[in-house]
Formats: sequence, structure tokens, C-alpha cells
Amino acid sequence: MPSPFPPQLIQALRNARSVTVLTGAGISSESGVPTFRDPQAGLWSRFRPEDLANAAAFRRNPQLVWDWYAWRRSLVADVAPNVGHLALAKLEARVPEFTLLTQNVDGLHSRAGSRNVIELHGSLMRNRCLDENVVVEPAAGDEGRPPKCPRCGGLLRPDVVWFGDPLAPAALTAAQEAAVRCQLFFSVGTSSMVNPAAQLPMLALQGGATVIEINPEPTRISDAVHLSVRGAAGAVLSGLVMVAWPDAV
Ligand code: APR
Repeated sequence: MPSPFPPQLIQALRNARSVTVLTGAGISSESGVPTFRDPQAGLWSRFRPEDLANAAAFRRNPQLVWDWYAWRRSLVADVAPNVGHLALAKLEARVPEFTLLTQNVDGLHSRAGSRNVIELHGSLMRNRCLDENVVVEPAAGDEGRPPKCPRCGGLLRPDVVWFGDPLAPAALTAAQEAAVRCQLFFSVGTSSMVNPAAQLPMLALQGGATVIEINPEPTRISDAVHLSVRGAAGAVLSGLVMVAWPDAV
């Protein structure tokens, strides 16, 4: 299959000092993790993420929200990073300043070997005290019911950003800086519907970066970026790394 990337872009990637990549649920869908806009699977099919991923829902029915996250944790524990995640880890090794911004909470980028990862929406792998807002590592036996904070006895919640929550200021500032200073910005597997993450490609454009989107479907930024590749993250990213560095193992 011919590369969807023009030769000058491949050359720009080889010579780039700074590359920033933003990922969404689409890159993990190839590992078997459903995207947010996919219909919910199985017993959760009657719920919308928006109805579960928020503080009011958790306070109203902690057990229901906790069970949904326990189900998502078990789903993620059973899957592996795919070639798209692995290609980004390889890319990081080739670029002097590489920043991976992810909206995903599944931890698959880190499991694939990516190191400089900013988890904009938090992580399923950690809990946070609902009252003190401090991170608490999960303990064995947490699965069945919302655990209590070992420090204050309050409820623990998953350490993920819920609808209506602000993003961690340090993570957002670092992400914005990485978008503004990079020469190449890739937006991969995201519908670009949720702010502030969806603003990051626009910041990169304003910063003078070449912005590339990878998604089988058009999104609301497709017409604004320099190149919108209609394809799956795994095939396109692994193909890109192979063309740019044929010797990459
Ligand atoms: N490769 C690349 N993109 C894909 C693939 C694939 N194999 N399969 C699906 N996609 C695309 C879809 O076309 C869609 O544009 O991935 C995107 C997934 O979009 P969403 O489900 O909206 O997920 P995302 O963009 O990550 O959502 C952002 O919204 O619900 C909140 O906090 C939640 O982090 C999430 C945020």
C-alpha cells in the first residue's frame, strides 16, 4: 500500500526536533477497548458514558459507577497494546523531543513502552479520594465496592477526569506547551469533540506546526489540518515509522 504521507513530510519527520502526538479512544479500539462513541457493550448498553462518568452520578449511586469502572479496568487488564501504540513508542525513540498526549485512561501507551506520556484524562489504574482529592493506589479487594480512603475514610473514586471536572492544571499546561512548540503534531483516533483536548491541534497550527490527523472518519478538525489521513491508527502509524526509518526493528 503506498504511503499516504508525501515524501516531504517523511523528510520533515526524520529531521524533526520536536513532535507531539494526541491520541484518543480510536488507537485503543484496535486492542479491543470500545471507543466512547461506540454503543456500550453488554450490560452497560443501556447507559451512556456521560451518565456514568460524572461526580453527581457517583455521589448518587457510587456502586453503579464503581462497577462500570471495575468492568472497564477488567477489560483493559485483558487486552494488550497494539501496533499503533508500539509505533508511537518507536517514534519516541527517534525524535529528540517527543510528547505523547493521551485522552485515554487505559494505560496502554505506557505498557507499549512510551515514556513521556501526559494522561490528560487521568488513569483507570489509580483511585482518588473524593474529599481530599489525593491519589490513592488501588489495593487488592477494591473491585467489589467503592473503597474508603485509608487517610480520611471518605469514598475513593477512579482517578479519571469526569464530565464537568477540570483537567489537572499542570498536565494541561504541559500539553499546551508541547502543542505550541512542536514542528509536527499528530491527532490520532479522536473525534476532537471534547475540550480542552480538542483545542490542542488548533494551538499547534497557531504555533506553526504541520498538523496531521489519522482517523478512518472525518472529524470537525479534518478541514483545518494540513493532512487528514483516512485510515486506522495501527496500520498508518506503523507504516509511517517503517517508511521514515526502514531499519527500525
Ligand atoms: N484508528 C484511528 N481512529 C479510529 C479507529 C482506528 N482504528 N477506530 C475508530 N477511530 C476513531 C473514530 O472515528 C472516532 O473519531 O476514533 C474516534 C473515537 O472518538 P471518541 O469515541 O469520541 O473518543 P475520544 O475522541 O477519545 O473521546 C474524547 O471524550 O468521552 C470523553 O473523556 C472521554 O477521553 C474521552 C473524550
